[in-house]
Amino acid sequence: MLKDEGHNGLVQKILSCYRKLIHPAASSISTTSLSKDRDTSLKIRIFLLIGTLAGVPLMMIMILSYLSLQGAVKEDFNNQLRGNIESTRQSVEFFIDERISALRFLAAANSFGQLSDEKYLNDIFIKFKREFGELVDLGLIDSKGMQLSYSGPYSLQGKNYSNQDWFNEVAVRGVYVSEVFMGYRKIPHFAIAVKKELPERGTFCILRATIDMVTLNRYVSIVNLKSKDDAFIINQQGILQTQSRYHGNVLEKIAIEIPHPKEEVVLSEVRQNGSTPLIFGYTSIKKSPWILGMTVASTAQSKILDLLTRDMASVYLAVFLIFLGIIANIKISIGLVNWIREAEREREEAIAQTQHSGRLASIGRLGAGVAHEINNPLAIINEKAGLMKDILLMSKDAHIDKEKFIGLIQAIADSVTRCKTITQRLLGFARRMDVRHEEIDLNDTIREVIEFLDKEILYRNIRLETRLKEDLPRIISDKGQLQQVFLNIINNAIDAVEDGGQIMVSTELRNPDRIRVSINDNGQGIAKEKIKHIFEPFYTTKERGKGTGLGLSITYGIVDRLGGSIQVESEVGAGTTFHVELPIRAEAP
Ligand SMILES: Nc1ncnc2c1ncn2[C@@H]1O[C@H](COP(=O)(O)OP(=O)(O)OP(=O)(O)O)[C@@H](O)[C@H]1O
Ligand SMILES: [Mg+2]
Repeated sequence: MLKDEGHNGLVQKILSCYRKLIHPAASSISTTSLSKDRDTSLKIRIFLLIGTLAGVPLMMIMILSYLSLQGAVKEDFNNQLRGNIESTRQSVEFFIDERISALRFLAAANSFGQLSDEKYLNDIFIKFKREFGELVDLGLIDSKGMQLSYSGPYSLQGKNYSNQDWFNEVAVRGVYVSEVFMGYRKIPHFAIAVKKELPERGTFCILRATIDMVTLNRYVSIVNLKSKDDAFIINQQGILQTQSRYHGNVLEKIAIEIPHPKEEVVLSEVRQNGSTPLIFGYTSIKKSPWILGMTVASTAQSKILDLLTRDMASVYLAVFLIFLGIIANIKISIGLVNWIREAEREREEAIAQTQHSGRLASIGRLGAGVAHEINNPLAIINEKAGLMKDILLMSKDAHIDKEKFIGLIQAIADSVTRCKTITQRLLGFARRMDVRHEEIDLNDTIREVIEFLDKEILYRNIRLETRLKEDLPRIISDKGQLQQVFLNIINNAIDAVEDGGQIMVSTELRNPDRIRVSINDNGQGIAKEKIKHIFEPFYTTKERGKGTGLGLSITYGIVDRLGGSIQVESEVGAGTTFHVELPIRAEAP
């Protein structure tokens, strides 16, 4: 069996179920009777087979639909997230650009002399702060890194920045945006510095403004976020530049590993300490050392689940349809098993019927053969018995008890006569094996038989009724043999009823090519266990000497040869009905 359980074991099982369904006989279980166990196992197998045949394609369709839905939802979801990040980045970039432009304008519109005058710078600072409320301080630094003038809350006069990275960067690039640092009031800030060329002096100076992060924080936090989502700005090392909901405070490092930022939005799935996966989207913010990051707790799968559970009606409908499918499957399985059981029963009956007919036919042939063989010895016994009787009558020997001997010889002669009756009946049947076909009226044939039995019927005061259907088609059959059939059956009925009993003979057209003759009596009936024997030759329940037990076996043989069939219905004490069905055109032998 192990070799059957290969990789395609399921296919093998389905095929073997099919084979067993189509050829129940091939099943290892006995087919002679369908046990309850077998019924149940067959029902389960059919149920599983139908379930597999219907369920597998359905499952495949469902999986494919789910995959394509998942793809569509994922794309939609990613596009939304990308759009969100993109628009926030634009806002942040616009914010920075605006401040850089304003600072550049201040640097260009005012002379070095004016800007290095602290009072003048203070005036500008106040005006500038009116426009941009988040401005913390404003200062001018010369090309050597020295703070020339300053307006703001700190005391930075005379401070030298020449060693600081940002100073060198702005000297080279012309503009600089710093990372976030904690200011004097412990509020996160960042600085913007622009370079002002002083060609007349052959040198440059730097205008530097510090801006607090409150406004930027707001820019990031107004993104349309769900409760479990988060948006923040980090630097290249992952240090938070703005407040984050879930990933820490300003200047803390976030736990997500930051790959190299790109100008376009990048999305990746991250897992933090075995929690539910997050979608992390990020992009670099131009003209700044910052990265805009966004984390979203829901994935495409959870979105699909959301979608499905939102529309509960379709979930109920799907459950109902599955339930309906299972019920239909159970019904079909039960129906199929019943159908198989019925077909099997019919097949068994047909086999039994054929075996019975065959047995009867062979017994009939045997009987005819034996009758033929014993006919001649019987004739000799009869002749010798007659001779013995003659000799005895002529003998003058007074010592012999003639009376007694003649009685004994008569007994021999009687027995021989009875044997002769039997052999003649058997031979009569055997001799008439050939069927003579002629066109006959079945009703007339029956009337002739009844006429023949008239005297006995009258004598026994039996009421014999006929219900012969008029306009029956004439049939092509053997009249003599049919007369013998009806004679045997009606004779049996006469024997079965008591004096004054009833017999009914009727004819009807069963279907366009078969006529049924029914002979019903209200006699003693036949017990169930005896019915199966009545067509056997020499089976009789009549008193010794009254019946040969050949009537029905001969009848059966004739009807069979004429292409008809014979059935019995009987109930003990109520009566018996013999149905003889004959073809309108008996097939030529
Ligand atoms: N109409 C009937 N009612 C009750 N029993 C019947 C009827 N017809 C047949 N039988 C039973 O079937 C048996 C066999 O019938 P069958 O005609 O073969 O032989 P038989 O009538 O006994 O003998 P024979 O036909 O030689 O007179 C009968 O002995 C009888 O028991
Ligand atoms: Mg009989």
